[in-house]
Amino acid sequence: MESMQTPVTIVILAAGLGTRMKSRKAKVLHRAGGKTLVEHVVATARELAPPERIFVVVGHQAEQVRQTLSGQGVKFIEQVEQKGTGHALLVGRDALVPLGGHLVILNGDGPLLRAETLRRLVGQAQSGAAGVLLTAMMEDPTGYGRVIRDARGRVAAIVEQKAATPEQLGVREANMGFYCFRADLFWKHSGEIRPDNPAREYYLTDMVEILNRAGEFFEAIQIEDAREVLGINNRVELAAVDRVFRERKVRELMLGGVTIEKPETVTIDAGVSIGMDTVIEPFAQILGNTSIGEDCRVGACSIVQDSTVEDKVEIGAFTIVGTSRVERGAKVGPFARLRMDNHVGEGAHIGNFVELKKARMGQGAKANHLAYLGDTQIGAGTNIGAGTITCNYDGAHKHVTKIGEGVFVGSNSTLVAPIEIGDGAYLGAGSVITEPVPPDALAIGRARQVMKPEWAKKRRAVK
Ligand code: UD1
Ligand code: CA
Repeated sequence: MESMQTPVTIVILAAGLGTRMKSRKAKVLHRAGGKTLVEHVVATARELAPPERIFVVVGHQAEQVRQTLSGQGVKFIEQVEQKGTGHALLVGRDALVPLGGHLVILNGDGPLLRAETLRRLVGQAQSGAAGVLLTAMMEDPTGYGRVIRDARGRVAAIVEQKAATPEQLGVREANMGFYCFRADLFWKHSGEIRPDNPAREYYLTDMVEILNRAGEFFEAIQIEDAREVLGINNRVELAAVDRVFRERKVRELMLGGVTIEKPETVTIDAGVSIGMDTVIEPFAQILGNTSIGEDCRVGACSIVQDSTVEDKVEIGAFTIVGTSRVERGAKVGPFARLRMDNHVGEGAHIGNFVELKKARMGQGAKANHLAYLGDTQIGAGTNIGAGTITCNYDGAHKHVTKIGEGVFVGSNSTLVAPIEIGDGAYLGAGSVITEPVPPDALAIGRARQVMKPEWAKKRRAVK
């Protein structure tokens, strides 16, 4: 089917500041559903066209927008002054005219658009219409352009909020900001857009009336649920769109066999994968490039970011896991923090108030309570007592602690790095360990206990 269609060029409008956001940051750089708005739109566009046929119109914070999209291979058009959505196209004229085919134009502030909807839009445009646009019936279309239909029901014009008559303001069918034009007709008539409106802007939406006047016709695809294509103009709408992304994601996961308790409370980014029969407890956040295996449990209020969690792992409540790998059957938390670059081996346990940084826990190793393990390698089966601290930082440099297999680190030990503890060694509780400990040795580094019989009794007697 698609090979029968004319080639598609996609232009994403992303140059505006977005005054109504009341932000120093360009609107399309705000985030919803774990990504910037413009990244969502580009991702959808890429499902329909190769990156060299996708153009992003940049203006406000052009450099940041380019950076955000670097590596995607898309092209950019610079709109130095933002004189309206029509003007955004006109500045790209030289680059776009030779590409012919169909011209798809997407508002960069409409991140919810799905590829399947865009495909419908392009498909419909093969009908010979000068253009097709997406519309929706809205309960409150305030701020949106209204779709004006003629007596035969055809789309005659789009009238912007600011230019609409009171009667036109009563129209509930809104323009959602996604269009597919026949490129030849678009460019033939684009020069007819005039800034003759209260905002003194070049409105892209004027093209509908212009092409009708030229004897062409327009079609509209009316989307059932406006929530699928909502645009964002302020932070209330940003939050509403974010919620839609979250709902889409948890729904997809639940239908794929993941149990999500109180799904309305969790935050799961689009790029996250979760295996069957895993349970996600309320208020969990699973972010970025995270994959979670089957039969796991992610505890309430936990945050897991850019990490890999294998099957049958339990992450207790209030646990934070960042850029780490947790192997099969391990238990982490509650109240643990795996700060960065950690590797927790199969069946290992990390308990409450344990912090790991660049730590490697061998298979079955345990640190069940209150410890800081930084720049540390811990062998299989080793037990780290409560209160153990690796002193990895000397004020200038970080140093490594190596602890072998089957080691017993007594509670409240202090290991001054760089240091190495051999396999099978024992460290007495409360030790400050500054010298390497050979395998199977016992190291005690603490003051000997002093005993003064009857001392307390005598003290009480002195009054
Ligand atoms: C636009 C439509 C309106 C539609 C609504 C849907 C026009 C004139 N109006 O209105 O009919 O209902 O979208 O959300 O098109 N931009 C540029 N350069 C500019 C101006 C805007 O690149 O000079 C970009 C913005 O960054 C934004 C997009 O175009 O991503 C839409 O601009 P915005 O000002 O939000 O248009 P609306 O007033 O919402
Ligand atoms: Ca808008």
